[in-house]
Amino acid sequence: MSLSKSLAAVGTVAALSLSLAACGGSSAPQAAGCNVGISMPTRSLERWINDGEGLRSKLAAAGCTVDLQYADNKTDQQISQIQNQVAGGSKILVVAAIDGAALAPVLAEAKKQDATVIAYDRLINGTEDVDYYATFDNYKVGQLQGQYIEDTLKLKDGKGPFNLEAFAGSPDDNNAKFFFAGAWDVLSPYIQKGQLTVPSGKAPKSAAEWASIGIQGWASDKAQAEMDNRLSSFYGGGKKVDVVLSPNDSLAIGIEASLKSAGYKPGADYPIITGQDADKANVKATLAGEQSMTVWKDTRALGEQVFKMVKSIADGQKPEVNDTKSYDNGKKIVPSYLLVPEVVTKDTVKSKLIDSGFLKSSDVGL
Ligand code: BGC
Repeated sequence: MSLSKSLAAVGTVAALSLSLAACGGSSAPQAAGCNVGISMPTRSLERWINDGEGLRSKLAAAGCTVDLQYADNKTDQQISQIQNQVAGGSKILVVAAIDGAALAPVLAEAKKQDATVIAYDRLINGTEDVDYYATFDNYKVGQLQGQYIEDTLKLKDGKGPFNLEAFAGSPDDNNAKFFFAGAWDVLSPYIQKGQLTVPSGKAPKSAAEWASIGIQGWASDKAQAEMDNRLSSFYGGGKKVDVVLSPNDSLAIGIEASLKSAGYKPGADYPIITGQDADKANVKATLAGEQSMTVWKDTRALGEQVFKMVKSIADGQKPEVNDTKSYDNGKKIVPSYLLVPEVVTKDTVKSKLIDSGFLKSSDVGL
């Protein structure tokens, strides 16, 4: 070998080891196996921006190649983004589905390219091709909302009757069914006993009929329009709403706007309103007395769990799960990791959301 050739060879080896070193320390996933496509539903809701960015930056810092896409709440867009990710070499897909029933064909394509699929926050239904699921305990989210209402109205002590209006989430989101079931299992016995009455009549006979009061796309304006209708049609003659079961913060914002335009003001006669996500606008509303609680899901913890899952998969190991019973997607029971949601009220905004660094005091005017 000529001197110049062997110098070039030494240079190549040095460059190679430098680039391997740049991929991270020994605990980092192998860059070759850590090519990740993240598919999030929409940028229109704060939580998905935080979820996507949080996970992307953790993975990138660990040396993974990451492609993060948002699909504007449009299923077709999400499908083509996933197709592009697979074509671009993503071997691990992290997907928060818009329509949990629409992704089977694209995941079948992904499987042909040996991709491993993690359903993020929302389960993907009707397919064998989802390997893991990481989420918060969705039934528990609804149960916390129901129990908050039960405790605040002292329903266990037989108090009532109170006027309840109930809402459910987007009919295409598998989580929405679990949220509703958790809340309805607590509340519906009180409807039967007459302690809760539902003037609009929009009270599903069983939790299974939740989609009849679902708000498509979790849209605030649709929730507002629905609440406007109920207030004008069923609350004439001084009748007041005492409590609104809202499954999340985006619906709660619409419902609060509707109540405001109907003349409701924070204070003794203002209804109880539940929520979920600890979005900034809703935390502000909670501090202002326009919302009673939100169920906080620390999306950083979900990101951390999914990061660990991705890392295990990239390292050729089995990821940790803590539930192998609850999430049947119609084709298989998807091994899941469930995190624990928590109630936040006006009194715990500081101790839970600010002190943990989830929100800054300036975000919520504290
Ligand atoms: C999530 C909620 C969110 C809702 C609307 C659900 O699947 O679990 O946190 O509020 O979607 O985006």
